[in-house]
Amino acid sequence: MKHYKYTPLLLWILVVFGNSPSHAQETIPQVEELLQQMTLEEKIGQLNLLTPGGGIATGSVVSKNVETKIKAGQVGGLFGVAGPEKMKMAQDLAVKETRLKIPLLFGSDVIHGYKTTFPIPLGLSCSWDTMLIKKTARIAAIEATADGINWNFSPMVDIARDPRWGRIAEGAGEDPYLGSAIAKAMVEGYQGTDLADPKTMLACVKHLALYGASEAGRDYNSVDMGKVKMFNQYLPPYHAAIAAGVGSVMTSFNDIDGVPASGNTWLLTSLLRERWGFKGFVVSDYTSVNEMVAHGLGDLQAVSALALKAGLDMDMVGEGFLTTLKPSIEEGKVSEVEITRACRSILEAKYRLGLFQDPYRYIDPERPDKDILHKEHRKIAREAAARSIVLLKNHDQVLPLQKNAEIALIGPLADNKNNMLGTWAPTGNPQWSVPVLEGFKNVAPNATIHYAKGANITNDVQLAKKINVFGPRAEIDERSPETMLKEALEVAEKSDVVIAVVGEASEMSGESASRTDLSIPESQKKLIQALVKTGKPMVLVLMSGRPLTIPEELALPGSILQTWHPGIEAGNAIADVVFGAYNPSGKLTASWPRSVGQVPIYHSMKVTGRPPENAAFQKFKSNYLDTPNAPLLPFGYGLSYTTFEYSNLVIDKKTVTQGESVTISINVKNSGSFDGEEVVQLYLRDVVRSITPPSKTLKGFRKVFLKKGETRTVQLTLHPDDLKFYNSQLEFVSEPGVFEVYVGTDSDTKNKVTFSLK
Ligand code: BGC
Repeated sequence: MKHYKYTPLLLWILVVFGNSPSHAQETIPQVEELLQQMTLEEKIGQLNLLTPGGGIATGSVVSKNVETKIKAGQVGGLFGVAGPEKMKMAQDLAVKETRLKIPLLFGSDVIHGYKTTFPIPLGLSCSWDTMLIKKTARIAAIEATADGINWNFSPMVDIARDPRWGRIAEGAGEDPYLGSAIAKAMVEGYQGTDLADPKTMLACVKHLALYGASEAGRDYNSVDMGKVKMFNQYLPPYHAAIAAGVGSVMTSFNDIDGVPASGNTWLLTSLLRERWGFKGFVVSDYTSVNEMVAHGLGDLQAVSALALKAGLDMDMVGEGFLTTLKPSIEEGKVSEVEITRACRSILEAKYRLGLFQDPYRYIDPERPDKDILHKEHRKIAREAAARSIVLLKNHDQVLPLQKNAEIALIGPLADNKNNMLGTWAPTGNPQWSVPVLEGFKNVAPNATIHYAKGANITNDVQLAKKINVFGPRAEIDERSPETMLKEALEVAEKSDVVIAVVGEASEMSGESASRTDLSIPESQKKLIQALVKTGKPMVLVLMSGRPLTIPEELALPGSILQTWHPGIEAGNAIADVVFGAYNPSGKLTASWPRSVGQVPIYHSMKVTGRPPENAAFQKFKSNYLDTPNAPLLPFGYGLSYTTFEYSNLVIDKKTVTQGESVTISINVKNSGSFDGEEVVQLYLRDVVRSITPPSKTLKGFRKVFLKKGETRTVQLTLHPDDLKFYNSQLEFVSEPGVFEVYVGTDSDTKNKVTFSLK
């Protein structure tokens, strides 16, 4: 039965067991042949993903007896292993010591660069530069594959509107339109056009689904969301990754409509495979199958059967598949067809990666030296970091600084390598990073720089302990806070300008790093207040993995550069911006709240039936007694050293018929005294429709470079799909009526034209 896909019996089984015929039609003959030879145990073995430890383990479990299991044909892939030597040893076990010689997949979390670490993804997204982001993904693939990795647990595309959630750092922020464009760019960057090319790797979009909507911003928490919101707001980036051909999908830890993602048939089969036509394989998150026991869905055997039947193919670390699927078959709880389906999808990925042709394709001892930390890669990392920086305020136009200034460089993050890479950089090495002090010296060798630490990241010993799990991130100085402050003030007094590098340690965001207080830690707030009192011009270089609540700092007579955690070239990139070699062009991709009480907050919130007319409190309107509704800093916000003026907003037609596009143009003038880039943003409001629309939502953007004095007409086109939304039947439709189009510098723009859709 070489091509059993054609037998009537198999077609019947596929239909009955929910495998779509289109999936069956694309089977790969070599894989089918192999499946014919495999025993049930060998098939189950392929569904097992292990990590031998040694890297960062994100759960309490690390796999045991990995070598024995590989030899026994009980492992389909490994992660957390790197370097050609180790990979070769592991691959040898699989292809020399097992009966069928099936090669292993080697996975890894290459989230924002491999060894050349780029800014955290939230930072990168603020560049609004999908070409650049694609380039960073390409470089990550070149470096990771040089170390033998062929499967990447990225991109993370979870929409996040709650900055309490630490993993907001890992994604592209609050918006599905921008998030989708970035998801596509990253998949294309990792996978290239040919997966068998040893410099490309299989991408894995995660975490399907809705992980960013964890209740109360607490990691791993439950999610409860209606389908209309899901389809319109949260699912588009995953869908965009699928449309871009992503080879694998990782499930999320949370439940959706009461069923955890890893066991959710609606999610993994009806939506992912049937509606979206996904053809790759689905892997669980770290022990997320086992965690369904704690979720209350039964014992390990029951939840493993549930996961397989739902459409999960590979079990990460938990070994529920390995240890329970056979008894489940014997008891009639799962079928071999289901196991074959899962195994097929994993083998097909191995085939596409070219591993059956050459299991050592990605293992070349010559490559690490040639390809990793290449000078060109660091150059792009520097550029990416500079382009991720968002200028939040430029008080008295203090920035950019003269290169010969006398500068007080102060703060716990000013001469600090340990926090530059940001969260989720397990493959990078903080010691390779350029701290701010060094960057300043590189870029402005004629400046006089006086350095003082000034404060600890936090004085809270317990918090510091939690932050230091992967190594020192928030070290508490032996000196007293008073002594450190005194030194900082002395340094400030003798300088022309104060640069205070403050914010979060890298592990204050990321996985299992939720916060309920989003302000700058108290120790540093005190430092900032004291520095302001010196009356010296001051710039805060703010590092964080999330939007912070900074109403007090924003009100101070100082400037603020939000740099996120900028990666390996941190100091050089920050110095490039501070001294004007690069004019900042980043724009926020998540709204910054005034206080935690406003969270979740995002630009596309609905209007409600009782919208307040202005910022002042109005009784019986939808507002707060103690805070305006608007965020402190809106989505899309970011300044430049120059200024941009918008004029002459024109639309090419006032009436649009279904299926037609509409083009909007606007003149943008660089009216200041520096060359610079502007992200021109287009927001759409569907004024009347069958379900309540968002107040406005991003539907287009273009980043343009303008020389000082230059004016350019920027055109943006709304395509038919941009006018569509998912209605209450979850059909993707556009409805006749009036649309308002806003074009400008951020989501608060008031430049408006309207058109009607017939
Ligand atoms: C994370 C995933 C990651 C996996 C493997 C989990 O804890 O949620 O994003 O890919 O660990 O490291």
